[in-house]
Amino acid sequence: MSTRVPLPYTPKVLELFRNPKNLGKMENPDAAAQAGSPACGDVISLYLRIARGDRVEVIEDAKFESYGCAANVAAASMLTEMIKGKTLREAWEVEWQEVAEALGGLPPVKRHCSILAVGALRRAIRAYYEHRDRKPDWLPEELTMAEKQALEEEELIERMYGGRLGRG
Ligand code: FES
Repeated sequence: MSTRVPLPYTPKVLELFRNPKNLGKMENPDAAAQAGSPACGDVISLYLRIARGDRVEVIEDAKFESYGCAANVAAASMLTEMIKGKTLREAWEVEWQEVAEALGGLPPVKRHCSILAVGALRRAIRAYYEHRDRKPDWLPEELTMAEKQALEEEELIERMYGGRLGRG
């Protein structure tokens, strides 16, 4: 008999784990990034299709691939739904707590799943502007708290499991 106690996932987490939205690889994305550790399998890849207007960039489409747990799949699915139609500036301001809240909450041991999803988003937005002449005023030079949290989670995963990180 199994001694494992099931985690108290909300119905929303279970629903999105079973039927994730925006799951799959995007061909030729305008921006993409990974967060997590391939060493332990907790990895999210995020892809963005971005429409460029007059000084604003809008996320037309967002997709993800996840090699993480149910919470990771649900958080990435929720995040991609939340950011579609947002400008990059608006998407930059999405916090992992909002994603967790939209899922009806996450068990404390699963908060890093949402942190990694938002970490991948911020990394993708930075990657988008990396090779552009114009960096927007709202994009800070320094890593934000959310990005530092994602890095800390990656380092923790790395220490627990060892191996190499892929932060493309
Ligand atoms: Fe690591 Fe969910 S992504 S346990």
